[in-house]
Amino acid sequence: MQPPFVAVEIDAPVATVTLSRPEARNALSPGGIAELMGALGALDEDDRVRAVVLTGGPKVFAAGADIAEMVTRTPADQLAIERGPRWQPLLRFTKPLIAAVNGYALGGGCELAMMCDMIIAGDGARFGQPEVNLGILPGAGGTQRWPRTAGKYVAMEANLTGDLVDAERAYQLGIANRVVPAAETVATAQELARRIAAKPPIAVRLIKEAVNAAYETTLTAGLAGERRSFHLLFATDDQTEGMRAFLDKRPPHFKGM
Ligand code: CAA
Repeated sequence: MQPPFVAVEIDAPVATVTLSRPEARNALSPGGIAELMGALGALDEDDRVRAVVLTGGPKVFAAGADIAEMVTRTPADQLAIERGPRWQPLLRFTKPLIAAVNGYALGGGCELAMMCDMIIAGDGARFGQPEVNLGILPGAGGTQRWPRTAGKYVAMEANLTGDLVDAERAYQLGIANRVVPAAETVATAQELARRIAAKPPIAVRLIKEAVNAAYETTLTAGLAGERRSFHLLFATDDQTEGMRAFLDKRPPHFKGM
């Protein structure tokens, strides 16, 4: 039996998910992805948890899809693997998810980081889509999320050359929220998660939904959705509490209702 790929640590209200297959540089096998998705699905259901940090090892966040498993794959094999939820539990995850990236985030590993809501990069982090060097193209969003974040020309270069960008460049391109010393990456992400976890959870959920909608829809539809969520939040106790606390000049106490 394979050792677990994913370790979950809950220090409520923040959970930290750590990928751990250092001997293969955290390569993402179908089984490993399923394990990660299972862990995220459970954390989405867990009321103790309000924000999640996803990290890898000190030298590699994740080196992408498992090349050893892919080398002899046929299109039919690939289709068979792609049955089931695949990345859906992550893409539908309702709580803030922060990637804490140290070392290499390559191929599917870079795409995994980019599927998260925020990215904290350690100063040695390196991001890239080297799939072209393997005779394939990114299969988990690299050709779509790079242009939406860094623009067409940068995305073309990254995807067509497979060249990596370092943490500072990733920050300049908007791929990383901030760059911190590598030893502080996970703690910085956990601190950010903890701050967001203290905010009103229903508002947090709807804000995440609204920002993500900006990548999927027209401005008019996105603004309409934002407005509906704005209306909806006036039905929550946390809206009354947030505004009362401001007027009373005291810290708010949010309950998620
Ligand atoms: N899949 C399978 N095994 C991998 C792997 C991967 N993606 N990345 C590394 N490994 C394995 C190596 O084969 C090696 O195994 P052995 O010890 O059995 O020989 C072990 O991990 C150590 O690898 P290195 O010696 O290369 O380690 P390094 O520290 O010198 O380099 C690295 C690290 C820069 C991440 C380098 O391993 C590397 O470039 N990996 C491949 C990155 C890549 O091409 N990713 C794209 C994959 S395709 C994809 O992701 C498609 C998609 O979009 C979903």
